[in-house]
Amino acid sequence: NRTTKWKGKKVLITAGPTREALDPVRYFTNYSSGKMGYALAQSAMENGAEVYLVSGPTHLEEPQNVRVFHVSSASQMFETVKHLYDEVDIVVKTAAVADYRPKQTVEHKIKKNNEPLSVEMERTTDILHYLGEHKRNQFIVGFAAETQNLKEYGTKKLVSKNLDAIVLNDVSQSDIGFDSDQNQVIFLTRAGNEQFVPQASKKQIADQIIHLIDNEIGKG
Ligand code: PMT
Repeated sequence: NRTTKWKGKKVLITAGPTREALDPVRYFTNYSSGKMGYALAQSAMENGAEVYLVSGPTHLEEPQNVRVFHVSSASQMFETVKHLYDEVDIVVKTAAVADYRPKQTVEHKIKKNNEPLSVEMERTTDILHYLGEHKRNQFIVGFAAETQNLKEYGTKKLVSKNLDAIVLNDVSQSDIGFDSDQNQVIFLTRAGNEQFVPQASKKQIADQIIHLIDNEIGKG
């Protein structure tokens, strides 16, 4: 079921979690498996696009005919995305980027004692916000993972990050969202077009998202 619909288009997709190191043996991360982002990369490739997949640490096999860039931390993801940004036509930001990292990464393993341990955290760069600010002609799609007030928080991100569309993902349900094989989303555009995509495999959801993005681009 390959098409050439996106032949000549360059698509940048980010996937998976990031890891923010505390010391050589410990890090902060989240539950993203990368499945949703890898499915989107596969789908975009099957539609004829040249795909750049910037991936945080996952256990997934690399999709074929996709250029994969492996990164670990939010700052590495930011550098790689920034480097590719000018070249691409479409960006889909599925990655669950850490919002905070330890202010200091300690060189040697922190030895435990009986006192509580406090770790000071600082904000990472909001990559998507940077992309929205430096947008030229790219069509930018963000994701929003929320456990409540999905539409309200998602709409705020769509506007504040200057996106063209956002995919709303309810991560309070364990059979969809983080790490599961299935998902269910709402696709929301800047113009207020709203599409519910009912529960299906992440590959089927990815196919639908690519189709919805294509419709929006078609409106020019
Ligand atoms: O990987 P899976 O297990 O398949 O799970 C898929 C998923 C649930 C992770 C995915 O569908 C999803 O919802 N991804 C977005 C997760 C997220 O970090 O959402 P957020 O609401 O915190 O961030 C909003 C957007 O800003 C996202 O597009 C994110 O990539 C981006 N962001 C966030 C923080 C940051 N420092 N830089 C960013 O670019």
